[in-house]
Amino acid sequence: MQEEAAALRAKGPAVLVELPGPIHAWSITRHSVIQALTGDPRVSRDARRHWPDLPGIPAGWPLAPIALQQSFFNSYGNEHRTARRRIAPSFSPRRVEQMRPQVQATADRLVEQLAALPPGAIADVRQALSLPLTMTVICDLFGVPDHLREKLGTAIDAVLDPSVDSERGLAIQAELMDRLTELLRYKKQHPAADLTSDLLLPPEPDQEPVPDAVLLDTLFLMIGAGYETAVNLITSAVQALLAHPEHLARIHEGTIGWEDVVEETLRVEGPVMYVPLRYAVEDIDLGEGVVIRKGDPIIIGFGAAGRDPERHPDRPECFDPARADKEHLAFGHGPHFCLGAHLARLEAKVALATLFEHLPDLALAHPEEQPARVRSFIVNGAVSLEIVPRPA
Ligand code: HEM
Repeated sequence: MQEEAAALRAKGPAVLVELPGPIHAWSITRHSVIQALTGDPRVSRDARRHWPDLPGIPAGWPLAPIALQQSFFNSYGNEHRTARRRIAPSFSPRRVEQMRPQVQATADRLVEQLAALPPGAIADVRQALSLPLTMTVICDLFGVPDHLREKLGTAIDAVLDPSVDSERGLAIQAELMDRLTELLRYKKQHPAADLTSDLLLPPEPDQEPVPDAVLLDTLFLMIGAGYETAVNLITSAVQALLAHPEHLARIHEGTIGWEDVVEETLRVEGPVMYVPLRYAVEDIDLGEGVVIRKGDPIIIGFGAAGRDPERHPDRPECFDPARADKEHLAFGHGPHFCLGAHLARLEAKVALATLFEHLPDLALAHPEEQPARVRSFIVNGAVSLEIVPRPA
């Protein structure tokens, strides 16, 4: 996917691509253009207000759960600011730091299970560490009961595959809504000290509660964004470090830290490749003869920005956590900047430190192979990463 993004980047500041539907959208892969458009009020996320083609979009469109969902993710201007403000304080650096002991305890438990495997045994680090860690943290925060976690995870995974037809799309989307409705029903019956229970209260004492349709989409956004992304950050970082053990030596020497590994992974392998969709509120002239017309859809290649040779002329595709400038846009930019960035960074640093400190001889099971990638232009990561925790 990075190769395809590099080819698009070389073609121009925006290039028309075909997405499932099919619909056509402008793909933006240059660092400077991503920065400019994500901060530009002439670009909106609100399909209902700014996408004239919306009425022709069929039910079951595979991008609908993301592009048309009704949370603050797809709102614009003041409406976005007001809705985001309600949940943002729960993800501030201070609140996230308070989650550290629980993140550490979960990482310890999962790494102990890996350490207990017999020498020479193979494990998939995505399933054994990255996924259960990120899933447990976000589900604990939102009070998802144990009996719903796996079913909800499977339903969220399914909607991220954009290659399905509308009939399958409808079935997958109905399944997701059923699971989220089950969660909401459970939380209405069992309110507790968690973020879902907070969302069920009216925003202000004199206001109406948020409609269920918006709550369901907000839960999908928060839980989905909470683990589908960070799972790839952790897995990609493990892969990069095992493929380049010289960087592990630098960590042991203290010349680089875990945050350098995390930021460099975000730069080279941004876990979110593209986010669909944004719309031009008016004509936008990007130069080089490219004009995005009012109402045209746009996808932003956040995962491609870190490899832009204009921004990083020195070996942009090369994983080097010791490089001084690791700037990336993996968490977005502008008003929709990732709400979970502090949490994702904490999870990744804790996971990596725990894994490599407890399993110093950890190795890739198939160093000569590249694992298959997740089938989605939205998510950037490996389907699995087989490791040998304790070589024989
Ligand atoms: C490595 C992990 C993560 C990456 C790479 C990532 C990436 C992103 C990106 C690129 C955006 C911007 C979307 C846009 O402007 O179109 C975003 C937004 C968002 N992220 Fe993350 N994210 C990660 C982890 C998380 C976590 C752990 C959570 C939940 C706690 C989360 C919640 C959100 C939310 C709610 C938004 C929407 C913000 C808004 O529209 O105002 N993310 N994320």
